[in-house]
Amino acid sequence: MLTNDQLGQWDRENFFHPSTHLAQHARGDTPTRVITSGEGVHITDRDGRKMLDAFAGLYCVNVGYGRTEIAEAISKQAHELAYYHSYVGHGTEASITLAKMILDRAPDNMSKVYFGQSGSDANETNIKLVWYFNNILGRPEKKKIISRWRGYHGSGLMTGSLTGLELFHNKFDLPLSQVIHTEAPYYLRGATAGMSEEEFAADCAAKLEEMILAEGPDTIAAFIGEPVLGTGGIVPPPTGYWPAIQAVLKKYDILLIADEVVTGFGRLGSMFGSEHYGIEADIITIAKGLTSAYAPLSGSIVSDKMWKVLEQGTDENGAIGHGWTYSAHPIGAAAGVANLDLIDKMGLVENSGTTGSYMLNKLTEAFADHPNVAQVRGEGLMCAVEFAEAKSPLNLYDPSRKIGPAISAAMAENNVIARAMPQGDIIGFAPPLCIAPDEVDQVVSVAKDAVTKVLG
Ligand SMILES: Cc1ncc(COP(=O)(O)O)c(C=O)c1O
Repeated sequence: MLTNDQLGQWDRENFFHPSTHLAQHARGDTPTRVITSGEGVHITDRDGRKMLDAFAGLYCVNVGYGRTEIAEAISKQAHELAYYHSYVGHGTEASITLAKMILDRAPDNMSKVYFGQSGSDANETNIKLVWYFNNILGRPEKKKIISRWRGYHGSGLMTGSLTGLELFHNKFDLPLSQVIHTEAPYYLRGATAGMSEEEFAADCAAKLEEMILAEGPDTIAAFIGEPVLGTGGIVPPPTGYWPAIQAVLKKYDILLIADEVVTGFGRLGSMFGSEHYGIEADIITIAKGLTSAYAPLSGSIVSDKMWKVLEQGTDENGAIGHGWTYSAHPIGAAAGVANLDLIDKMGLVENSGTTGSYMLNKLTEAFADHPNVAQVRGEGLMCAVEFAEAKSPLNLYDPSRKIGPAISAAMAENNVIARAMPQGDIIGFAPPLCIAPDEVDQVVSVAKDAVTKVLG
């Protein structure tokens, strides 16, 4: 067996890691972490160290690690038929079954699922479908996409543009000109003193309308948003946000893309975030929880309204000029079927709601009174604690102090993984949906010790 030193050396010499400080890693300033196994909410590394993963990988291993039902479904599919494409009407039992299972769970106005591999490529597909839709309807000027600051929608050319985090734009010549960003629904940071959540939500909707009018409503094709902001800080929307936003979009005939890559399949305690907040989307993006990341698979769920126009488009122009070699990959589809079955059998959507409320209560008990905790927030099993130098008036820490990363590192020393969110001193908690209350207690207790260690 290779030694850890040998693997570390090969890693530094050969492996280009995503979202990593490349120079520090190549120099060996940051360690190589080799994870070897997982079971339930735990992962184990090559040194035999077992950790509770309170971020489910990248909030994607929703059913938990080590589920043999999914491993066996993947194995069976690989033995029977590892690959066939899905172009020109081809399919497999797994891909056809999975499409039906998704539509059975999706909001009633949804019609079909297009399968990709990642959240990024699914959102890329979505924007192409929106442009195609407006071209078929004879509205070639209606093409701009409105996204939100702090939204996360991927890191491709279009999807990195949609993402409203500067790290994903700077030095990459992004965002592309067709993408514009509006106010993030971030009450803690965006509301002025004395504003209620409802007033702040109305303010976000008013700013959106101002932007639409300034650009010209005939130039705006779609709005994209996550039901709960994820990578941008785990921020549930202020009360009244989605109804207020949807009223503006309807008024100007603008499509709504609900990016449910994180919230789809139970994370908020409902099957979809759209259902949770009464969002009537024209397209829903899914990935992560679709297979619990046992195999790469994503999807764009398209509404009846869009589907009719797509059909019209192909009657007029021939086959749709869009597809990936790995669209509806049979191994991903087999993993998806087994995963959605398991979510039902284990009652994970319900557990996410009940254990999520328990986790939010425990985090609130532990942190709400801390002088450096600006907010404890969450919805379902998606919670965050935000730290600040002072909370009233809000005075954030200088980012160079790296308070969030220090707290997350102190937690890791005690074998609990929570994520230091990339913009702000925010610790995110999004464990597998199978987490039990006693495991939540451990996460909160370790977080408390870490905060004491870092902030006193
Ligand atoms: C809401 C959302 N959309 C899209 C993506 C991009 O997905 P992927 O990393 O699979 O490309 C992510 C990834 O975290 C996400 O959180």
